[in-house]
Amino acid sequence: MIRRGPLPLRIFLGFLQFIEKIARAIRRETLNFRIGLMTEALSDEERMQVSIDAYDQSFPLNRADAGLHEWEEAWFGNTLPKAPAKLLIAAAGSGREAVALQGLGYQVDVIEPATAPVNHCKSRLAETSLVVQADFADLTAAVLEATDNSASRLADSYDAIILGWGGLAHVLRHDDRIRLLCCCDRLTKGPVLASFFMDPHASERQQVSTAAKVGSRTGRAIAGLRGLPQNREPVEYTEWGGFIRHLRPEDLDEIGKVAGRIVQWQKEGGFPHATFVSVDE
Ligand SMILES: C[S@@+](CC[C@H](N)C(=O)[O-])C[C@H]1O[C@@H](n2cnc3c(N)ncnc32)[C@H](O)[C@@H]1O
Repeated sequence: MIRRGPLPLRIFLGFLQFIEKIARAIRRETLNFRIGLMTEALSDEERMQVSIDAYDQSFPLNRADAGLHEWEEAWFGNTLPKAPAKLLIAAAGSGREAVALQGLGYQVDVIEPATAPVNHCKSRLAETSLVVQADFADLTAAVLEATDNSASRLADSYDAIILGWGGLAHVLRHDDRIRLLCCCDRLTKGPVLASFFMDPHASERQQVSTAAKVGSRTGRAIAGLRGLPQNREPVEYTEWGGFIRHLRPEDLDEIGKVAGRIVQWQKEGGFPHATFVSVDE
């Protein structure tokens, strides 16, 4: 409440403050309703496309120059074959890992589905690097089913594969994560490095407001009418990256097992990450 000035003016300013407060609350609850509705009413394919669109609209392209995180430096240094090994970096964004690893002498090819970031990669990587606009589904279809798509241009084999920072979180179905790892296993006998989110309570946190609950209920009714499967894996919606799936340790163990790989949990702090190593290594 304003403490100075004539009383009628103070009352009027106070009234405007009150209106602003209500407008903010309406905006917040509309957003909560929209998130609840979207989360339930969209198919997994649509949710994944929402993520790609979110990155396309707001990815900070200058992140390409941000360099590796400390935990990545330690992890890459201990795990990757020595430069000039040939690496595939998937979910490359605007090229943060790729630019840094190229600077360390590696040959890097990248895939990234969002248009603005992938174009930025093209401007930052050597002409010898393949820069392909494709998502994980394109990659797995090209490698596992020989589907002809943009990812078919990639090389037949790499010395190691990096699923770029948090990228695995955008694969919302367990079976698709298995397919992705099997696909990586086809492309490399070397290590497959992946980082992911692991907060078991993330999707519950989104359900706390009444608006979010009503949005979810409405979304579930729409999903029923659309014939979408029930009991899908819980996901979290974020404004910056659309939908993400928080993984459990057993999810990673199982995808490793099916793909014939051993999961090596990395201890460097900062962000959950693991290396899938070939059983023959
Ligand atoms: C957190 S960003 C990380 C980008 C980059 N690796 C970095 O560290 O700066 C996650 C990336 O995953 C990509 N992505 C989202 N959904 C994807 C999908 N279905 N397949 C492949 N990449 C996806 C996004 O476009 C985004 O560039």
